[in-house]
Amino acid sequence: MTTEATEGIQALLHEKRTFPPSAEFAAQANGTAEMYDRADADREAFWAEQARKYVRWETDFDQTLDWSGAPFSKWFLGGRLNACVNAVDKHVEAGNGDRVAIHFVGEPEGDTRDITYADLHGQVQKAANALADLGVGQGDAVAIYLPMIPEAVVAMLACARLGAPHTVVFGGFSADALRSRIADAGAKVVITADGGWRRGKPGALKPAVDAALDSGEHPVEKVLVVRRTGQDVPWTDGRDQWWDDALAAAADTHEAQAFDAEHPLFILYTSGTTGKPKGVFHATGGYLVQNAYTSSVVLDIHPESDVYWCTADIGWVTGHSYIVYGPMTLGATQVMYEGTPDTPHQGRFWEIVQEAGVTVLYTAPTAIRTFMKWGTDIPAKFDLSSLRLLGSVGEPINPEAWMWYREHIGGDRTPIVDTWWQTETGAIMISPLPGVTQARPGSAMRPIPGVVAEVVDDAGQPVGNGQGGYLVITEPWPSMLRGVWGDPERYRETYWSRFEGVYFAGDGAKLDDDGNIWVLGRVDDVMNVSGHRMSTAEIESALVSHPKVAEAAVVGAADAMTGQAICAFVILREDVISEADEHGEGAELVAELRAHVAKEIGPIAKPRQIMVVAELPKTRSGKIMRRLLKDVAENREVGDVTTLADSSVMDLISAGMDKGD
Ligand code: WT7
Repeated sequence: MTTEATEGIQALLHEKRTFPPSAEFAAQANGTAEMYDRADADREAFWAEQARKYVRWETDFDQTLDWSGAPFSKWFLGGRLNACVNAVDKHVEAGNGDRVAIHFVGEPEGDTRDITYADLHGQVQKAANALADLGVGQGDAVAIYLPMIPEAVVAMLACARLGAPHTVVFGGFSADALRSRIADAGAKVVITADGGWRRGKPGALKPAVDAALDSGEHPVEKVLVVRRTGQDVPWTDGRDQWWDDALAAAADTHEAQAFDAEHPLFILYTSGTTGKPKGVFHATGGYLVQNAYTSSVVLDIHPESDVYWCTADIGWVTGHSYIVYGPMTLGATQVMYEGTPDTPHQGRFWEIVQEAGVTVLYTAPTAIRTFMKWGTDIPAKFDLSSLRLLGSVGEPINPEAWMWYREHIGGDRTPIVDTWWQTETGAIMISPLPGVTQARPGSAMRPIPGVVAEVVDDAGQPVGNGQGGYLVITEPWPSMLRGVWGDPERYRETYWSRFEGVYFAGDGAKLDDDGNIWVLGRVDDVMNVSGHRMSTAEIESALVSHPKVAEAAVVGAADAMTGQAICAFVILREDVISEADEHGEGAELVAELRAHVAKEIGPIAKPRQIMVVAELPKTRSGKIMRRLLKDVAENREVGDVTTLADSSVMDLISAGMDKGD
């Protein structure tokens, strides 16, 4: 645990304010206090009960958990189900086909569309048939590279209907990132769009798909293209097909098959501590169960009356779990918004809340801090009285942001759920239950009923209240990842090797005096930038792939707005140094390197700062001491340098900083 993190949390632990739910909220809440006792008494029976309550099984399961092959788990054995049927058909069959599933709000003002569950039912059947016509069947991976439009949901659910694992690639990732994911997943089909609306302009997506597919061998046979912006797109005859045409040519009805509970539902790539993103994959049954359950007891969705809105992009796990699979398995009505919060004005989110009558809002601390910066007068112009619950996810929420969210968005009335989880956990793990917990600003509080987590020290021993350590999960849970796609050893090694027999998430945490959990953030080489997970190694390898760079070290520096910001230190190649020095090309070179990272990984990975240095601080064994670079990036006095091979290196870097910025 770094000292600065420990000091930061020390200040937080003085936070003693608590906010109990109102009696009115508690009375209607789906999550209740007795659930904790019931889950503690018999965890497996508790999960079996949730599984049968929230999910429709075509064949009931006969065993809840098989942990005999730990750390590989199997849940709901013998059970068979279809995730798409649970998210769509089930609601139509129950007579709720007229309920709005998605209230789509495009970025251009006035561009809205309401899609009922019956509409969706029609679309997922056609889309499933269209994919089947292209040869997609059970077990065939499909890559989805789409903006935030309803077709993204339809595409995901159509894959699920066929038992074809989808791999959604965030639209902000580059052609290279897309190519490596397509190759690793072995995707036969890519579903993309001509583009999407972003800050008032049509952004392109199709050229990145073309670039990804033109640059070498790949398994892709067909590309389906959704028409969204109407812009011209390059076309490869025989490979590319318009989504609309494919659906129009497909049959209307599709008989869904049930799949084994353990059948892979999707693969989602996420940054780890090495340069290569991991394909985290989830199994249909357990994933669906925990997502429906948490959508109910944590997000407190009442499908018949709520208007729910999760502002995440579908390209991240939050979009998978809390736009598609959780809320839709409950039959919720939700808002889906295509654009940015400041287009065409900084009140856009609040205008949407007011117009759609949003009751439950789930967003990220980085967004909340941005709204704070824009000023309270902006949300004050809108009627936000429909809101009854607020959620936060993606990174620690500082108490100031928590309080601002509650006062200025929640009208000093709504509970807030600060939900801790990860791509790997698949669903919410640590969070208040909004009708039960006396929430404390800044703390994710306790594991939800059914989940067992602890904070342990270096030796893996549980720490006492008031102490810090590593956050671990000590019992298996239904929505746990089933592995790293194609690399079972990496799964074992990454998550189960740090501490014997328990899952180590990579986060540091502290217990306050009352035993509530405060998640501090990553203790590994993973950065959290605006709630987006970025790997230092991945950005370093992007930088060194540039011909002018000899070596690179990347650190995440504390940033008031984005949580962490990417700071890079680079050593240039000999021949380049002199040239750059002679012609004074420093600024140009930095711009060139930033653009290179954007091209290699995506614009979200662009470093905030790139510092050209002569040396990097290394231990005698050659390991870069990122801790010292972090001190520099955060403008702190540089810490202990005694383990450096050459302790003068840091003087050089610090001196360069003073003269540089
Ligand atoms: C990492 C997981 C969970 C979906 C979005 C991110 C951080 C997430 C919280 C929270 C403190 C949080 C952790 C975690 N994180 N939620 N409520 N409080 N930190 O998913 O990309 O897999 O990132 O996000 O560091 O390990 P992800």
